[in-house]
Amino acid sequence: MSDFEGLTALVTGGASGIGRATADLLADRGATVAVLDLDPSTVDKPLTGHRADVTDDASVRAAVTAAVHGLGGLDILVNNAGIGARGTVETNSDEEWHHVFDVNVLGMVRTARACLPHLRASAHAAIVNTCSIAATAGLPQRALYSATKGAVYSLTLAMAADHVREGIRVNCVNPGTVDTPWIGRLLAAADDPAAERAALEARQPAGRLVSAAEVAAAIAHLASPLSGATTGTALAVDGGMQGL
Ligand code: NAI
Repeated sequence: MSDFEGLTALVTGGASGIGRATADLLADRGATVAVLDLDPSTVDKPLTGHRADVTDDASVRAAVTAAVHGLGGLDILVNNAGIGARGTVETNSDEEWHHVFDVNVLGMVRTARACLPHLRASAHAAIVNTCSIAATAGLPQRALYSATKGAVYSLTLAMAADHVREGIRVNCVNPGTVDTPWIGRLLAAADDPAAERAALEARQPAGRLVSAAEVAAAIAHLASPLSGATTGTALAVDGGMQGL
């Protein structure tokens, strides 16, 4: 497929996992793609990497300006950078709450704010936010993380309403548990990594983890001009978890 031929995209958190798979897929399908990441050192051609911390507004603005200059415009923003958090309302500190919201929610706000003036100039403008099934599922030990993704879900709906008349579509994907370096780190920290992995697999009716490529395909679907009438939706990529 070459539905992204002539289009440009910026993927945050694009150096690893879901973001990297998305950047690679959009490039394979014809887009010119830049990555914004805390550590873009592993990003290689045809992608271009830009270092930024989504908690730092000045660094986001500088990276977006440099990326858009290099791309020659911006059609697609994939707002994907995010971090995990484990715990209940009793175990996560206020500092943790502020930090994870700063990355997962405000990070998307800052990046969208920097990109919107450029997206307005595109005839095929689309934003795809990486949300999570945690936004709607009620998972144990994920109070803080789930609250950030609930906010991302609401933000997606509100942004879709704010920008639809400007020709900018805003959607999100809601992945289940995805086999990325993040989950690798989570398993490595578990007392019994094999048992933890089996529990995560069993949590999804499909009986396996989702692949980063499967989430990338859903993001590309929502970002594509072929989805030109779709805005304000959440696409589940969760091995059937939502239906439970
Ligand atoms: P990952 O850890 O493999 O990749 C995340 C990337 O984001 C890394 O390259 C990291 O450097 C970058 N990043 C983190 N903090 C940043 C910051 N402050 N500024 C700029 N870049 C930053 O993680 P993965 O699994 O690919 O996750 C990506 C997104 O998918 C996240 O928003 C996460 O919440 C979401 N997600 C992941 C699921 C999973 O099971 N892996 C499930 C549902 C959603």
